[in-house]
Amino acid sequence: MEKNRSSFTGKLGFVLAAAGSAVGLGNIWRFPYLAAKYGGGIFLLVYIILAVTFGFALMTAEIGLGRKTGLSAIGAFNKLNKKFTFIGYLAAIIPAIILPYYSVIGGWVTKYLAVYVTGGGHEAAGKTFFDDFISKPFEPLVWLLIFIGATAVIVLLGVEKGIEKVSKIMMPILVVLSVGIAIYAAFLPGAWEGVVYYIKPDFSKFSATTVLAAMGQLFYSMSLAMGIMITYGSYMKKDVSIESSVTQIELFDTGIAFFAGLMIIPSVFVFSGGTPEALGKGAGLMFETLPKVFETMPGGTFVGITFFILVLFAALTSSISLMETVVSIVCDKLKIDRKLSCLIVFLFSLALGTVSSLGKGALSGVKVLGMDLFDFFDFASNSVLMPIVALLTCIFIGFIVKPQLIIDEVESSGKFKRKKIFVFVIKYLAPICIVLILVSSVLDAFGIFKI
Ligand code: PFF
Repeated sequence: MEKNRSSFTGKLGFVLAAAGSAVGLGNIWRFPYLAAKYGGGIFLLVYIILAVTFGFALMTAEIGLGRKTGLSAIGAFNKLNKKFTFIGYLAAIIPAIILPYYSVIGGWVTKYLAVYVTGGGHEAAGKTFFDDFISKPFEPLVWLLIFIGATAVIVLLGVEKGIEKVSKIMMPILVVLSVGIAIYAAFLPGAWEGVVYYIKPDFSKFSATTVLAAMGQLFYSMSLAMGIMITYGSYMKKDVSIESSVTQIELFDTGIAFFAGLMIIPSVFVFSGGTPEALGKGAGLMFETLPKVFETMPGGTFVGITFFILVLFAALTSSISLMETVVSIVCDKLKIDRKLSCLIVFLFSLALGTVSSLGKGALSGVKVLGMDLFDFFDFASNSVLMPIVALLTCIFIGFIVKPQLIIDEVESSGKFKRKKIFVFVIKYLAPICIVLILVSSVLDAFGIFKI
């Protein structure tokens, strides 16, 4: 399979494909609720600093690793040093954990689209609509099944390319629509306070947890520390500049997240007064806030339908690339055919997805480390496993194969302007920060556990 790697046509092809994987629910659903919860401006600032340091260095390293070896994660680590193949395996577990709960949110998006299409926008803006919906025992599971079923069918039929093409047209429309909604929301009475909260850093809200949350979000949003960018790198042509591709993917991904925040956070101030409780809503924030914004808009139903279609496509391209990754690993490792592998991954994701979905409803009383099951899967992948994989990747590049390997790969196709920053981040800054943050936050989580 590895022998006949097809490659992306040119730079735009690579950037768009990688951006297609990167831009998804992470930007539109997850970023705003974390920013709202972890202090607004301070979260945004920490996120941007991390994006231009950690994000830049790790993405360069992963794409470089992939292109240098021409292999995906497990093979790439194995080829460079057999003893470190385990990093590839560890990275490969992460998409398998993310896919199930990602599909739960994909199901919520599908439900909201159906609500808007059937003229239920007014009900959706009701105070308890979202909570009523997710606490139902079966309905969210049906939507989960629809979303994950659609993903599996697309992967099985091998028609991802078609979806990706459509989504490349839809992505720019999503950007324009998000900017439009954000501008509209920012001018609603009472929104300005929210704009300030989102943009102006309040340093008293800085904590290790903020940094960890921002770091986990960065990895999640840019599809880092889970082997995905290594695979994308392996498909990248040798004459495409890695550094400028990374810059473009980062700008695109962070830009969309920024506008999603601007669309949602000020609206929380407009409709719920920006209380800590409203801001700390978590996973439901987008679903509770946006219908209220659409309700006040002329043509709100149309905007709602368009918005949820676009988000659904962004979610599908991401869930497809998650499932694709897991399916191909299961194929290779269990030596079974694609269909069977697809079926196994589908059933596994459905089972784990059901557990996380019920974590927000019938099983909300079941807590692990003080979190419901949904939040626990999110925490385990984003705040524990991904930082560990990122740390190991930095150590591997920084001290085992040495940064020069990546530098040579980058320079083979253009300039590497931020070479010094790259080496400093990979060898020192990232490993030290990740260890400090990881230890402090895990202690924190266990602290909650004791109470
Ligand atoms: N980066 C995606 C998002 O922000 O929604 C999530 C994701 C998609 C991660 C695909 C990994 C992946 F392979």
